[in-house]
Amino acid sequence: MNETIEFSATVSATTRNGVLVVTIDNPPVNATSVDVRGGLAKALAHAETAADVTGVVVTGAGKTFIGGADIKEFGKPAMDPTLPAVIQNIEGLSKPVVAALNGAALGGGLEVALACHSRVAAPAAQVGLPEVKLGIVPGAGGTQRLPRLIGIPAALDLITSGRSVKAEEALKLGIVDTVAADLVEAAISAASALAGKPLRRTGELGMAAADPAEIAKTSAKILARARGQKAPAEAVRLVTSSDRPLAEGLADERATFLALRDSREATALRHVFFAERESSKVEGLEGIEPRPVRTIGICGLGLMGSGIAVSALGAGYSVIGLDQTAKAAEKGRERIIGLLERNVASGRLDQAGFEAQKVKLSVTATDADLAPCDLVVEAVFDDLAVKIDLFQRLDRVIRPDAVLATNTSYLNPDEIAAATAHPQRVLGLHFFSPAHVMRLLEVVRCAKTAPDVLATGLAVAKKLHKLPVVTGVTEGFIGNRIFSAYRREAEFLLEDGALPHEIDAALEDYGFPMGLFAVYDMAGLEIAWARRKRQAAARDPSERYVEIADTLCETGRLGQKAGRGWYAYLDGKRTIDPDVTAIIQAARAKKGIAPRAFTKEEVLERLLSAMAAEGKVLLAEGIAARPSDIDLVMINGYGFPAHKGGPMFVNG
Ligand code: 3HC
Repeated sequence: MNETIEFSATVSATTRNGVLVVTIDNPPVNATSVDVRGGLAKALAHAETAADVTGVVVTGAGKTFIGGADIKEFGKPAMDPTLPAVIQNIEGLSKPVVAALNGAALGGGLEVALACHSRVAAPAAQVGLPEVKLGIVPGAGGTQRLPRLIGIPAALDLITSGRSVKAEEALKLGIVDTVAADLVEAAISAASALAGKPLRRTGELGMAAADPAEIAKTSAKILARARGQKAPAEAVRLVTSSDRPLAEGLADERATFLALRDSREATALRHVFFAERESSKVEGLEGIEPRPVRTIGICGLGLMGSGIAVSALGAGYSVIGLDQTAKAAEKGRERIIGLLERNVASGRLDQAGFEAQKVKLSVTATDADLAPCDLVVEAVFDDLAVKIDLFQRLDRVIRPDAVLATNTSYLNPDEIAAATAHPQRVLGLHFFSPAHVMRLLEVVRCAKTAPDVLATGLAVAKKLHKLPVVTGVTEGFIGNRIFSAYRREAEFLLEDGALPHEIDAALEDYGFPMGLFAVYDMAGLEIAWARRKRQAAARDPSERYVEIADTLCETGRLGQKAGRGWYAYLDGKRTIDPDVTAIIQAARAKKGIAPRAFTKEEVLERLLSAMAAEGKVLLAEGIAARPSDIDLVMINGYGFPAHKGGPMFVNG
């Protein structure tokens, strides 16, 4: 082995068997920052001219190959060499360049690899072009080289979804040539074997034939899903036109990338990207170790409890489910198995995984069977007395160091904790339904929650592949507090002159998957009605209160299941109902409100401002730690469009 050559602070190399093994070491994810690009350019120039170098291997230090372009450099003036220029050098080098993918090769990282003359992947590697998730398109050849390598249909799928694939799938698709455990050795051998031979340059490959009708159908589907977002539409355009000359396609791609990079959409999605990483940094938890968790108890195996169980089994935990009777517990087990079977049917889980998860599940109606649990999550009826009784029983059977979590939506977890023997081991884990699907998890820090208990909640959330956001104790936590303010404003708008379908249309145009009133109907109106009735006595009579929802409920309009709610459901199809319009008009008349017309912009302005105003109150009260946490809650729990950045970003 020769001595190390430092091409820059982040790029160095050694020569082995005549192959220059170039290593990128730019923590945390080896992004292609200017120092990396400069170092790579120098390494390539050296390889081209050095007589003792017959080929090059490019690899990454640590667990990432290259995590992509440096997102922190976006918005700053571009610095040479650009990534496309470096990539052009790789592809055009007269000596073979082999990518040794030691870990994630994402975005610009995969684009570097695509320009290499061969790709070897470690079994743990994964590849993808996630740019659309950041509101941009690949900007260094991805939309032109990937289709040349794997065909337009497969490239279209990967680039427009932004999904990454593991080494085995990458091999099947033809993105990598070999998967090898002894990665660098295998890459050196590949480079040596290619030396002096004609090189396979991806940019020069002919395009495999594909069915134009199939491509058109897939493209139409992607555009419909994009709901007006620019990046997926541009990605479709670039990939489907990639059978033109390479230079033309690359120039178009770069111009599109640069234009999108500076767009509001991309700025919003970058905000979300960094917000997600920021949210797990919690004050007071530096250096605090979470408690080890292997077995999770789940009390209450209804829809919510079963969803939590599926999520926990999927993350490798053992699960003990508790319900009131043996019959209810068995029913819960069947529900959980049913959900797992659905995962098998959809291909998310293979048969071996299913069997392994089934073995880790047991159910019981006996409290004492929860003794082995490291964490118990309750998902029983949302009633204070019921939850307190359960936690007091759990106190008697679980270890004193086991953590107790309540999944309450509206009750005060401090009151539940106070009734237990060890309130410091109690926290809230507020899952969203369906719990095995929804990514958001509000982690509630109660008055007495111990730091390592909170850290345990966060660690478990991460393992469950959830997005945890820490919230203080308040009625409804972050999400439902903002949602209440938003709902209240929507009801004011009704009284002031807008109709449900007009408000819903404004929200759907903005990017919400469904309007607020349509969501109400889908969920059913009775639970919120019952809560309003409970709160009626405590309500300040001088506060504006809209009675329309109560009137709907009183007349049996309880939502979609009842066939009517804010809308009528004729043959299951949502339609505007003149009876609802009449109820709204009567409510306005009763209060002497002269209705006026609202534009979509006015509707949005009022709703978004109401959310942001409530967000500011939550920050002032110390319930939310930072505005971006509120954005994450609304995006991941309430359908706020990610490409708009969240209510605090919009009003920031
Ligand atoms: N640029 C700058 N910083 C980045 C980054 C990037 N591309 N990717 C990650 N980081 C930072 C994160 O902000 C975080 O910083 P922090 O510690 O200060 O909070 C740190 O790296 C670690 O990130 P994660 O917590 O996400 O680490 P993981 O180990 O869980 O995941 C990863 C690693 C899979 C690489 C993940 O970070 C990731 O998916 N990164 C983004 C990948 C991406 O979108 N790449 C495309 C970029 S755009 C592009 O390449 C354009 C090109 O076509 C020209």
